Amino acid sequence: MGAIVGIFDSGVGGLSVAAALHHLRPALPVRYVADTAFFPYGQRTSREIAARAVELAHGLIDDGCTLLVVACNTASSAALETLRHTFSIPIVGMEPPLKPAVERSRSGRVAVLATPATTAGDRLARLRANHGAGAHVTVLPMPGLADLVEEGVVSGARVDAVLRGALARPLREGIDAVALGCTHYGFLRAAIEAIVPRNVQVIDAAEPVARRVVSLLGSAGGDPGVGGAPAEVLCYATGDRARFVASIERLAAAGADLPPLRVAAHPPFTPAAISPRSRT
Ligand code: DGL
Repeated sequence: MGAIVGIFDSGVGGLSVAAALHHLRPALPVRYVADTAFFPYGQRTSREIAARAVELAHGLIDDGCTLLVVACNTASSAALETLRHTFSIPIVGMEPPLKPAVERSRSGRVAVLATPATTAGDRLARLRANHGAGAHVTVLPMPGLADLVEEGVVSGARVDAVLRGALARPLREGIDAVALGCTHYGFLRAAIEAIVPRNVQVIDAAEPVARRVVSLLGSAGGDPGVGGAPAEVLCYATGDRARFVASIERLAAAGADLPPLRVAAHPPFTPAAISPRSRT
C-alpha cells in the first residue's frame, strides 16, 4: 500500500501546510480534515483539543493514512504527545517558529503571534526556555484573528486594525522578526508584510514541516509523490460544507497559495469517529 498523508486542523489554516507539501510532492495523496465544527481550537481547553485530536487521527488512520500531520500549532501543543502515545504511525506536529526567528533576528527582539491556547501552553514555554534565552521575545495572543482567516478575510480594514493593534508596540521596541505561530496566519503574510518595515522578517513553519514530512516518507522507503499527475487534496469539513467552500473561494480570490483540492460532499472518513459537534 502506498503512502497517504492525513492532515488536520481546525479549519483552513492547515491548507497552508498542504500547499507547501504539494509544492514539494505534487502527486502525493493527501486527505485533509478541517474540523470546522470544533473551530476555534485556540479558545478551547487542552483536554478538549487532545480528545478531539485523537478522534480525528482515528478517522484518518481508518481511512488509510500512513502518516499524520497535525497542521495546527494549537492542537500540536495540546495533543501531540497523546497522539504519539496512542498511534504507532509517524505524526508530524507544528510549533511556532521561534527558533528560526531568534536565529535570523539582528536586533535580538522577536514577536510570536499565536492563539490564546498556544500562548498559554507548555510547549511554547519550553520553546522559549530552549530557544528564546538571550533574546527579547514578545508573545502575542491573538483571539479572533484565526476567525477572520477562517471566513476567508485576509486583508482589509478589520485585518489591518487587529494586526496594527498587536504589532505597534513590539515594532516600536525594535522587533525585526515575526514568527507565525498559527497555521491560519500563514495566509496573512501579505497583510503583515504590508504594515511592518522592510527589515522585519515574517517567518512561517509550513515549509519546514512539509520538508519534514517528505524526509520521513523517504526514510520509510521510496519517495512517493515525485512522479505522476498532480493529486488533488481530498478535504472534508466536519462543520458546514458550504461555508468551508466559500472560505476557500475567498482565499483563492485573494491570491492565497492553496493546493488543488476537492471538498467531499460526504464524509470519506469514518463518520462516527469524527461526527460534528456543537460549539461549546
Ligand atoms: N490553525 C490553528 C493553529 O495553528 C488554530 C486556529 C484555531 O484557533 O482553531 O494554531
